[in-house]
Amino acid sequence: MNDNELILQTIDLTRYFGMVKAADGINVDVRRGEVVGIIGANGSGKTTFLNLITGYLTPERGRILFLGQECTGESPRRIVKLGLARSFQIPQIYTTLSVMENLLLSLSAQANKGTVFWQPLYTESWVREASEILARFGLESYADRPVSVLPEGGRKLLDIALSFALKPQLLLMDEPTSGVSIEDKFQVMDTMATVLKESNITTIFVEHDMEVVQRYSRRVIVFDEGKLIADGHPQTILADPEIRKAVLGHE
Ligand SMILES: Nc1ncnc2c1ncn2[C@@H]1O[C@H](COP(=O)(O)OP(=O)(O)O)[C@@H](O)[C@H]1O
Ligand SMILES: [Mg+2]
Repeated sequence: MNDNELILQTIDLTRYFGMVKAADGINVDVRRGEVVGIIGANGSGKTTFLNLITGYLTPERGRILFLGQECTGESPRRIVKLGLARSFQIPQIYTTLSVMENLLLSLSAQANKGTVFWQPLYTESWVREASEILARFGLESYADRPVSVLPEGGRKLLDIALSFALKPQLLLMDEPTSGVSIEDKFQVMDTMATVLKESNITTIFVEHDMEVVQRYSRRVIVFDEGKLIADGHPQTILADPEIRKAVLGHE
């Protein structure tokens, strides 16, 4: 596996909602191992971009290549199978099940390339793998507890662990720390960043907290009204008053 390998490429990716240009000719290249932050004001098209890449929206125009393979117009399910996962989406958290059971469902979905509920979940190898994943995310003490008892930060980590269990090559996250208290935010991000780095999972995350972006990404792309207006090192990008204005409005 070539470290410099192009993992994701979008070419002129465009999507309108009526008169709104939610994605307007987006060209992005992401290489293996990169951790890319996406920033932009509310409504600038960040989530639309993730929805397009993961097959939840079809583009008006443009293309998406994943590992050099055309995946424009593919279904979300097929895209997950190709190795592109997204936190919060597949699979959903089942709040009445235990933390372990949620992870077992994710592992079974991965193994079967689709969730098959009639298969026994508690196979020895899956339980072992699930335990290992929970330990990596610091959630082992919650394994047998229902998801509903997890604190918000733990729930976010479980979200990410469930996507991690799908063994993606590229992981997309939409505001992974939203709703998490300031004290817990960095702990969630530290854990997540460590696990993803150890596994060399390329990561794209949408984030509105500039401190988080600075600390956890070495590259940031900026959206404004559906357009990509900047792409570079967070320090450089966030020092630019024009960009700050576009992202944060008038402070
Ligand atoms: N399903 C939809 N139907 C109509 N308009 C949408 C839809 N999804 C997004 N939009 C519009 O597209 C623009 C970009 O939205 P979004 O990608 O959610 O922004 P962000 O995630 O940056 O806040 C906004 O103007 C939003 O109102
Ligand atoms: Mg959004």
